[in-house]
Amino acid sequence: MYQLLLLLLEMMMRMRMMMVINMCGMLVFSSAGGAAAAAAAAAAAGAQGGGGGVADLVTSLPGQPAGVEFKQYAGYVTVSEAHGRALFYWFVEADHKDAASLPVALWFNGGPGCSSVGAGFLQELGPFFPNADGTGLIRNKQSWNKYANIVFVESPTAVGYSYSNTSSDYELFTDKLTAEDNLAFILGWYVKFPEYKTNEFYLTGESFAGHYLPELAQQIVLYNEKPGDFKINFKGFAVGNAATDAYYDNLGATNFYYYHSLISDQTYATLIENCDFAQDLPVDYSLHNATCNEAANYALDVEMNEINIYNIYGLNCNPPANTTTRPTFTKVNQTFQKSFVRVGMIQLAGVNPCAPDNVTPYLNTPAVKAALHARQDIQWVECSNIVSNFYSLPDYTRSILPVYQFLLTKGIRIWVYSGDVDGIVPTTGTRYWLAELNLPIQTAWYPWNHSSQVGGWSQVYENLTFVTVRDAGHEVPQYQPGRALQLFKYFLKGQSLPGFDYNN
Ligand SMILES: *[C@@H]1O[C@H](CO)[C@@H](O)[C@H](O)[C@H]1NC(C)=O
Ligand SMILES: *[C@@H]1O[C@H](CO)[C@@H](O)[C@H](O)[C@H]1NC(C)=O
Ligand SMILES: *[C@@H]1O[C@H](CO)[C@@H](O)[C@H](O)[C@H]1NC(C)=O
Ligand SMILES: *[C@@H]1O[C@H](CO)[C@@H](O)[C@H](O)[C@H]1NC(C)=O
Ligand SMILES: *[C@@H]1O[C@H](CO)[C@@H](O)[C@H](O)[C@H]1NC(C)=O
Ligand SMILES: *[C@@H]1O[C@H](CO)[C@@H](O)[C@H](O)[C@H]1NC(C)=O
Repeated sequence: MYQLLLLLLEMMMRMRMMMVINMCGMLVFSSAGGAAAAAAAAAAAGAQGGGGGVADLVTSLPGQPAGVEFKQYAGYVTVSEAHGRALFYWFVEADHKDAASLPVALWFNGGPGCSSVGAGFLQELGPFFPNADGTGLIRNKQSWNKYANIVFVESPTAVGYSYSNTSSDYELFTDKLTAEDNLAFILGWYVKFPEYKTNEFYLTGESFAGHYLPELAQQIVLYNEKPGDFKINFKGFAVGNAATDAYYDNLGATNFYYYHSLISDQTYATLIENCDFAQDLPVDYSLHNATCNEAANYALDVEMNEINIYNIYGLNCNPPANTTTRPTFTKVNQTFQKSFVRVGMIQLAGVNPCAPDNVTPYLNTPAVKAALHARQDIQWVECSNIVSNFYSLPDYTRSILPVYQFLLTKGIRIWVYSGDVDGIVPTTGTRYWLAELNLPIQTAWYPWNHSSQVGGWSQVYENLTFVTVRDAGHEVPQYQPGRALQLFKYFLKGQSLPGFDYNN
């Protein structure tokens, strides 16, 4: 599989091909010379914010509801001058009179390749969502900017409106470069917004951000340990349904399917006996063993085909949604495609998976691109095939546990949360790798209280808090907005979620 990627890269370099994204978000090749094509693609570039945060102020966002009192900024932060590489962000100040003193939190979606602007902001936890008929925006009353200033970052390069002027940057994406670019983003963002330098700073995200967040946290800690005047006031991170360790995540998924009665005894036994969980892609055991591959295909394509794997008790779109209105994911190699579509982390299903996609048309409206200072010539897609296809295969299965071991002694707040009906990165696998960390328990497993119902369960370890969110799918803030907002509030306060206390 990895050889296939390398082969493709080599082929493309030899033919001096340049990848571009077409209307449907499919990977296509144009045969223009690399550098020339890159320059041409960039020629129509709208804006590089340039003159600090003020230049990035969003003054009139199409379809925005009336009465918005917080400021918004959007645009690019250059992360490599040499390559002409820039990450796009959309920053909303806190919807609060004390916004200037509230924390700053970055949000990252996963994939790899999915957009924090299209998914996180507009479908999960941002202040606005597109309305049902796609004609404008509505307020999200449970927006996370109630408690913090939130920066939604499109990372790595090629996600959403982010881009590079160097075509070789589209040939291989790695955890390491992503973390370095994300650190460069933060430092560049502070150049635009120096007034936030002393505010508390947090990272948040989900899914494949299970790689991005700990790795970026490590970069920040190392940056702060170096001599220098400026230190990032980094307090910690909260990560949801986090892809962390292929062995535990795959074993956890298999057990989750079996114990939720989604697969047969025979399928389960075959998977357990034949799969090499440490080597294979999350929720896909097909790469190394034909017997495992066959059983996995049967489990996912037959036994579980009619359910929504992002929320096993949620709605599914049966028959499948019109593919012209929901994003589709086309891969270079059909076998490869099958496995990646199944990885599922690249695809958001939505609370109503049959609902038309109103995000993609909105973010491709010229007036919206202009308002957000995004490049007009970039066709925005929710999840980039270029990133998912050309993401380092060893990095897909890399275990992040050594990064946790590094971070756990650094005095930062680490919250790991998990929607407990997600079938992509299920709670089971997260609990297996947490057990592997072998941390002392400070507060034993207890149900937490949200509006007098069980919001989920929590267990507080030394230097790490684990929280489940009851009846939440993969995108926790989307499926359980109230519970998620309470979780975010307590995370920022550094307080355990409240239990049920009948004595006060
Ligand atoms: C597609 O990928 C599979 C799995 O690695 C491989 O066996 C097959 O040869 C590839 N097909 C092509 C056309 O490259
Ligand atoms: C990319 O190239 C365009 C056109 O030359 C330029 O306007 C833009 O600033 C470049 N981007 C970066 C990040 O250097
Ligand atoms: C799959 O793995 C199992 C366990 O290692 C082994 O017994 C079996 O022969 C393998 N099957 C194939 C087709 O590779
Ligand atoms: C699919 O969506 C397109 C575009 O909205 C629409 O024209 C077409 O009628 C739809 N097809 C079905 C079967 O719903
Ligand atoms: C927790 O962090 C402190 C430093 O803040 C460190 O001394 C201690 O060893 C850490 N505990 C674990 C279990 O990692
Ligand atoms: C549960 O939380 C609600 C607030 O959401 C509070 O009013 C209630 O007293 C709490 N119940 C218990 C038993 O602690």
